[in-house]
Amino acid sequence: MSTTRVYMKKLGSFALMCLFLLAAGQTDALAVPASGPKDAVLIAAFGTSVEKARSSYAAIEKHVRLAFPDREIRWSWTAHSLLKTEKSRLSPQEALAKLATEGVKNVSVLSLHVIPGTEYNNLIRTARAFEGLPKGIRRITVSPPLLHDTESLKTVAEILVQSLPEKRKAGEAVVFVGHGTHHPAGVYYPALQHYLRGLDKNVFVGTVEDNLNLETVLGELKANSLRKAWIVPLMTVAGDHALNDLFGKEADSWKQTFIANGIQVETVARGLGENPALAGQWVEGLKNAQKKH
Ligand code: CO
Repeated sequence: MSTTRVYMKKLGSFALMCLFLLAAGQTDALAVPASGPKDAVLIAAFGTSVEKARSSYAAIEKHVRLAFPDREIRWSWTAHSLLKTEKSRLSPQEALAKLATEGVKNVSVLSLHVIPGTEYNNLIRTARAFEGLPKGIRRITVSPPLLHDTESLKTVAEILVQSLPEKRKAGEAVVFVGHGTHHPAGVYYPALQHYLRGLDKNVFVGTVEDNLNLETVLGELKANSLRKAWIVPLMTVAGDHALNDLFGKEADSWKQTFIANGIQVETVARGLGENPALAGQWVEGLKNAQKKH
C-alpha cells in the first residue's frame, strides 16, 4: 500500500469516527467553536426568601454540574416580589438578555416547576420570545416540569413512596402538600394522588391553594380513620408556604388544624430538590428535551 493510500485510509476512519460521534449524540464537542462563549444552562426557579430552604436549590445545582460539566450554569428566579427585594437576582428575561449580550448561542433552561401551570407557561413564552433573534441566542430548550405526563406521574409517585419518612408506620398518613393553582394543570395533583394511593393507600396529596385543599384532605384522613399524619411539602423548596401555611403556629395552618381535629402530626421540612432521585428527574428531563429540540 502506498503512503497516500494509507493516509486516505486513515482519513476515512477519522470521518467514520466523526459520524459515529455524531450518531451517538456527542455533538457538543464538535459543535462548539473553540473561541466562542460556552453553551449555558439557565436554571429557572420560583425563588425563596427562606435562606435555609435554598439547600434544595444547591442540591439540584450539583446534579446539573454533573450532568452538564462543560456548560456555564446560571440562575433565574420568577417570583416578582422576591426580585424586587433581592436586586442581584435576575428574572428569566434578564438572564436570557444577559446571555445574549455575552454572545451565548445555545441555552438549556431547566424549569424547577412541579406542574405545567401559569409560571411554567410564562417561562415557555419567554424562551420563545428570545429564541432566534438576529445576533441573539440561536437555540433555547426548556425542560418539562417534574410532572408533565402519565409516565412522569407514575415515576414520581414511585420515587415519593420509596422515600417516605423512615419512622412513618403503615397505619399513618403521609400528606404531600403542593402549591396548587387555578390553572387547568391543577389536575396533576389529584392525578399524582391516584398513583400514590395505588402504591400506598395512606399517602395523600394536598394543595395550599385551590385543588385539594385543607378541608378536603382532612375529610380524607377522617374517612380513613387516620390518627397520625406526616406533612411533607410537594414543593421544590421548603420555603415560606411550608414554614407558615403547613407547619405554622397559627390556628389555620395544616399542622394546627390536624392537631385540633385529633390527628397527631410529624413534619418534614425538606424541598423536593433534596431528594436525589427527584433532582435526577428534573435533570433527565432537560437532557431529553435537548434531544428532541
Ligand atoms: Co404562593
